[in-house]
Amino acid sequence: MQKVIVLDFGAQYGQLIARRVRDLNVYSEILPCDTPASEIAAENPSAIILSGGPASVYADDAPELDPAIFELGLPILGFCYGQQIMAKTLGGIVGHTEIGEYGPATITRVSPSRLLEGTPDEQTVWMSHRDSVTKVPDGFVITSSTDVCPVASMECAERNLYATQFHPEVRHSVHGEDMLSNFLFDICGLIRDWDAEGIADILVSSIRNQVGSDRVILGLSGGVDSSVVAALCARAIGKQLTCVFVNHGLLRKDEPEEVEAVFTKQFDVDFVHVHAEERYAALLAEVTDPEEKRRIIGTQFWKEFFAVAQDLAEDGRPVRFMAQGTIYPDIIESGARKTGGKASTIKSHHNLIPFPEGVSFELIEPLDHFFKDEVRTLGLALGLPEAMVYRQPFPGPGLAIRIIGAVTLEKLTILKNADAIVREELDAYNARLFEETGERNSEHSCWQYFAVLPDIKSVGVMGDERTYARPIVLRAVESEDAMTADWAKLPYDVLARISGRIVAEVPGVNRVMYDITPKPPATIEWE
Ligand code: XMP
Repeated sequence: MQKVIVLDFGAQYGQLIARRVRDLNVYSEILPCDTPASEIAAENPSAIILSGGPASVYADDAPELDPAIFELGLPILGFCYGQQIMAKTLGGIVGHTEIGEYGPATITRVSPSRLLEGTPDEQTVWMSHRDSVTKVPDGFVITSSTDVCPVASMECAERNLYATQFHPEVRHSVHGEDMLSNFLFDICGLIRDWDAEGIADILVSSIRNQVGSDRVILGLSGGVDSSVVAALCARAIGKQLTCVFVNHGLLRKDEPEEVEAVFTKQFDVDFVHVHAEERYAALLAEVTDPEEKRRIIGTQFWKEFFAVAQDLAEDGRPVRFMAQGTIYPDIIESGARKTGGKASTIKSHHNLIPFPEGVSFELIEPLDHFFKDEVRTLGLALGLPEAMVYRQPFPGPGLAIRIIGAVTLEKLTILKNADAIVREELDAYNARLFEETGERNSEHSCWQYFAVLPDIKSVGVMGDERTYARPIVLRAVESEDAMTADWAKLPYDVLARISGRIVAEVPGVNRVMYDITPKPPATIEWE
């Protein structure tokens, strides 16, 4: 399979570049910008894209690349910082332009260009820079300019090197996709060989190669990510797989029963349901710090899986591998375990907590380069039921990170009941929108929705009696991939129904609030 490598210089839009390439049916993945040329060559890529980045090429700590990548004979395309570092490395000059450009700008074609071929001579692109190339390296021609940026794009067709100061990967660059398509198909001569069925085959054979005749246990949550990994592993290694569902008691109402039903009826795999509710309750009693909760839950997951592996070993079926449904945004937000360590830790996703002492597995994470919507497409191609593929995301640490402060049985009961109402009402709202628009993630439909229980009480009046009870916060967001999100603009009647039902049906709650904060600056979950 062909592969395009994106070298990440700390770009805001780094993942988006790989994503856009995959949207054009060519596989792409990201590596840190300073990956040595020899390691890149070993990956056997068809082309390289240099991302943008926030630094100035002349800053002391400016991210560098290995200049030998320009000797690999591969087509290279640079965006923004990527153009500047290409120019500087190959003998051009990067200087400060008098005025920076942020947002939309108009470029004008100044010479024929293979990259811009078929796009208008004047067009709108998205700029975000202060520095800019002022002299192109020998052999390059300037292909477009703006009023303030003399080198909006440049190329050396002879060496297959192309670059733009603007960001073609951003939708606001109106013809950005055409340029990317020119690069991939006309310049690099690639073919569209990345589609869900194709990738499923590739992932299945790579799991088979990695596992050989060994045994694998799979951490199953019932969500789409781990279910897709289960389907891939079931196809790849069949009965060498044991799916382990650790019930930590922090699941939504009726969820453990639903997960068990799906995995014992729809999959022909070994399924183990571990009842760890009491162990988790004891470990979490009095823990209030969000990262501490996440660490305890994640560490205990490993211990529970390891205990199952030991049981299997005693049974003459030793386990070497553990498979899990880690996806790309988990890695990014947990501090970029595999992306070069340039992103900061926002929250530690449960499956990226380190192994505790005495526990060790070799990991299989076939989805660790994918976004949620790509995983859903893969799930459909693997024949998973729609209801499972379109299930809203649910975090591994479960309701513990939706209960602010210490987790108690009383709070869990309140939250489960309130959350069940939120889901019932918003499932129905989404179903109505789907009927009207035919789109699952249409404008205004909710991508994820749940209840949160803050650690406060307030005064109310019910049936002429004073109450001093808990509020519930409704969180409902629109998103594509959880990297960014906006609060859903729910109709007032839907909000009113949810609020009315929660205060009427959930004892201990006398107030309902709606969280109207986008991500950023908030996150989707509260902890
Ligand atoms: P945040 O709160 O970071 O969440 O905006 C982004 C998405 O990730 C989900 N999430 C998790 N998923 N393990 C998971 O599997 C976790 O530890 C975890 N924490 C957050 C969250 O529900 C949202 O969809």
